[in-house]
Amino acid sequence: MSNVDWLKAHTQKKQRDITGSLPEKVLEYHKLPPDVIKEGMVVLDIGLGYGNMARFIRDKGAIPYCIDVIPEAFHGVLDTAEKMILTKDLKNTEPINADFGLCHLVVQHCDDAELRELLTGILLHIKEGGIISIQVAERDTCGRNRFLRNKKEFKRAVKQCGGDCVNLGVEYKWPKYGSKWFISRISRP
Ligand SMILES: C[S@@+](CC[C@H](N)C(=O)[O-])C[C@H]1O[C@@H](n2cnc3c(N)ncnc32)[C@H](O)[C@@H]1O
Repeated sequence: MSNVDWLKAHTQKKQRDITGSLPEKVLEYHKLPPDVIKEGMVVLDIGLGYGNMARFIRDKGAIPYCIDVIPEAFHGVLDTAEKMILTKDLKNTEPINADFGLCHLVVQHCDDAELRELLTGILLHIKEGGIISIQVAERDTCGRNRFLRNKKEFKRAVKQCGGDCVNLGVEYKWPKYGSKWFISRISRP
């Protein structure tokens, strides 16, 4: 995603509701209990938007490591993030050994190569037994029609990137984009 695309996505009024999701709502969509983030946990916030999730993680006494594809996204979490890491730098970063990770409304922006880079990178930083909960849209929502993705293909992509993936049965309709999305949990085998 270029800087221009990102800034466009983040300044168009109609996009605001999706770039600053309410953390409680995100947990609900991901079928996670409200107390899933506990004091002292190390948590990856993957694809920040306005940084709401990072602040929520910090408020719970947990430690947010913030990951995004462009540096501008870090402006909102300068006082919140334990560390800010660009997706492309994940492979050269000391292992974080995170307990948990959350990724919401992000991978619809990633073509297949970007998705592989992101998955490979985040899997390096989740500890053994740790889980990343990830929302996956079946269609590119940027209007560029670069891909269609389904549960089977996503599972294969995670495998190719060195992880395991469990697709939860839940599915949400996304009529605005003529798409659907689902929730997966990914981990290291
Ligand atoms: C629509 S916002 C979602 C923000 C937040 N997670 C939420 O639910 O409101 C998408 C975010 O994902 C980031 N993003 C897009 N592609 C990414 C990638 N390959 N790696 C990490 N972050 C990415 C964007 O820069 C942006 O901050």
